[in-house]
Amino acid sequence: MSQVHEAIAEATQKLADVGIDSARVDAELLAEFALGVPRNRLPIAADPPPERLDLLRRLVAARATRVPVQYLTGLAPFRYLELAVGPGAFIPRPETELLVDWGLARLAGIEEPIVVDLASGSGAIALAVATECHGATVYAVERSTSALDWLRRNAAGTGARIVAADVTDPALLTELDGRVDLVLCNPPYVPDANPVAPEVSGYEPREAIFGGPDGLTVIGPVIARSAGLLRPGGYLGIEHDDSQGEAVPALLRADGRYEEIEDHRDLAGRPRFATARRLADCSGPASGAAPAVPRSSGPGPHREDLSQ
Ligand SMILES: C[S@@+](CC[C@H](N)C(=O)[O-])C[C@H]1O[C@@H](n2cnc3c(N)ncnc32)[C@H](O)[C@@H]1O
Repeated sequence: MSQVHEAIAEATQKLADVGIDSARVDAELLAEFALGVPRNRLPIAADPPPERLDLLRRLVAARATRVPVQYLTGLAPFRYLELAVGPGAFIPRPETELLVDWGLARLAGIEEPIVVDLASGSGAIALAVATECHGATVYAVERSTSALDWLRRNAAGTGARIVAADVTDPALLTELDGRVDLVLCNPPYVPDANPVAPEVSGYEPREAIFGGPDGLTVIGPVIARSAGLLRPGGYLGIEHDDSQGEAVPALLRADGRYEEIEDHRDLAGRPRFATARRLADCSGPASGAAPAVPRSSGPGPHREDLSQ
């Protein structure tokens, strides 16, 4: 048995022993990173220098304490991107790629669309759109200072415009009102009392995950603000918890400024994101719709444009 084969088998066993379901995959990803050998070439790799094997053992020991693989390698794949991630940044999830697919399809045929990604984290949605949709002007809005650091790093050279702001602020980006073609949002949406995996509770930022008692604290204001941002006929897509496949469409209906309201499932068949189209002929929210939250008392939005 080669040293690499042996090291991966040992790592897999160690991770399986602590109950990690993806033990083999994680062992291979860590081996790829530590040994500097592409994953598909690991089975035929030559014996590595001892310091590389030591590094692999240290990474496996950290993974066994439930540090996410992506925090250990510093990279998270998302569509065609490899995003830099680490403590303070939410790790992009594969299901969010479906929301981006839906959004990109809505942009087909629009020459220079304006797109806003609310709650950008390390930039997965915004940067996927910026790199896959030629001619798009993309705004990436994020509040957390640590997430903003990762976002700035990932956005360098993409032309995405970073806005340091609270997405629940009713005055957010009002200068774009009525002009935005597409708003996408993967907000914190897990209800506060819901259990989450140890990797999530122990390492990812709480404000990236939990969305209040019903998980809808950020989603409500995002629906209201997006109706102001969107041009007539513009689209909104919001990812949500699998328990919110009825609640989020209901919030969209209650707002009164949307049509074509639909909910979509992920590849596992669970309700995952809701979409809607801005009505062509209305001005304000429906009476009885939830009021937008008061304007935050903190500093106003701070716009950065890294494209220049
Ligand atoms: C679920 S993560 C999604 C990150 C990214 N969109 C993605 O899909 O990888 C939610 C993000 O929203 C940010 N966030 C939470 N509340 C916010 C608020 N009120 N205003 C702006 N950003 C917020 C968190 O810091 C976190 O980065």
